Amino acid sequence: MKIAVAAESDPAEPRVAATPETVKKLIALGAAVAVEAGAGVRSGIPDAEFAAAGATVGAKVAADADIVLKVRRPSADEAKGYRKGALVLAIMDPYGNEAAVKAMADAGVVAFAMELMPRITRAQSMDVLSSQANLAGYRAVIDGSAEYGRALPMMMTAAGTVPAAKVFVMGVGVAGLQAIATARRLGGIVTATDVRPAVKEQVQSLGAKFIAVEDEEFKQAETAGGYAKEMSKEYQAKQAALIAEHIKKQDIVITTALIPGRPAPRLVSREMVASMRPGSVLVDLAVERGGNVEGAKAGAVVEVDGVKIVGHENVAGRLAASASALYAKNLLAFVETMIDRKEKKLALNWDDELVKSTALTRDGAVIHPIFKPKSAA
Ligand code: NAI
Repeated sequence: MKIAVAAESDPAEPRVAATPETVKKLIALGAAVAVEAGAGVRSGIPDAEFAAAGATVGAKVAADADIVLKVRRPSADEAKGYRKGALVLAIMDPYGNEAAVKAMADAGVVAFAMELMPRITRAQSMDVLSSQANLAGYRAVIDGSAEYGRALPMMMTAAGTVPAAKVFVMGVGVAGLQAIATARRLGGIVTATDVRPAVKEQVQSLGAKFIAVEDEEFKQAETAGGYAKEMSKEYQAKQAALIAEHIKKQDIVITTALIPGRPAPRLVSREMVASMRPGSVLVDLAVERGGNVEGAKAGAVVEVDGVKIVGHENVAGRLAASASALYAKNLLAFVETMIDRKEKKLALNWDDELVKSTALTRDGAVIHPIFKPKSAA
């Protein structure tokens, strides 16, 4: 049983899908592990550390692997270079990328989209959305405060008092909760909003204030999976009016609102941005999915009327070493479920809920119910 850790071909991706620690554990499961030369360098892991953990390091290691571990979806060419039937685990970004999913099917690989892992207790250790969003939420506050020309904590000095910054977090999932906690640690006065009612208590328990239109629709607004629903036009208008009043007085706004499989909801209009005082900062963590803030630009920090809008992509990747360490553990936990420890060989259980939820392709076809061609559905 051979497991390969492929290097990322996308220059925008500094993370790596294994660490020396996870390599050792994969070897203990009975696998031979091969790491593509240079794969860990941008996460602070030189080849020598992988070799010391027991991996072989070389070029084109994925060609004969039974399992390929990656951060991002392999390109069509990369997938063609893998063995037919190889299991490929990555963040596949399948929504809106049906052609790329089909290319993996055509290459004959079995592609698993880690971000489709069900959010059940057994799979918590495999939850890449949480592990990466947590770091992104932290980093958003660090990035926002770095762009902000004032201090976050209140400081009483002989030369006068620096007031505490007001930080507003929009969207309180995993990233938002960590953003609240981080902004609080830095001494900000923190408020937060979300469309899911369950969030209110979590916000308060972190010492922040909850801001939302709490009507009947709000009280119903959570899906069985625990995710946000798209809200009615009426609710959105009421919520926007409340937010417009609130946002004027904020110094740093962090937006993290996402709805799985849909474009990010637009929460901050151009007018709201203009209402903020010069020097204020917005950090849009949803920028890669269309953005929560009007005028946010993916991969850039733009200035609008003296207000900065931060739109870094791959924010977890801005903490590549930490992000890789957690991501690698997520993959290890999933791989462990696919291996028969006694026989030391692959034993994929196609009836397992985790496999069924994440497998995109098999035997040359797209098999996932959300992504398979409609005629075959
Ligand atoms: P996400 O990344 O899909 O969305 C971020 C946040 O944006 C969510 O809280 C969502 O409600 C909010 N949002 C969406 N539309 C909005 C709007 N128009 N205005 C304001 N906020 C809006 O969410 P994430 O971080 O993936 O977490 C979603 C849920 O899953 C949470 O309840 C989280 O606690 C839960 N969860 C459960 C886990 C488990 O049980 N294993 C693991 C991780 C998360």
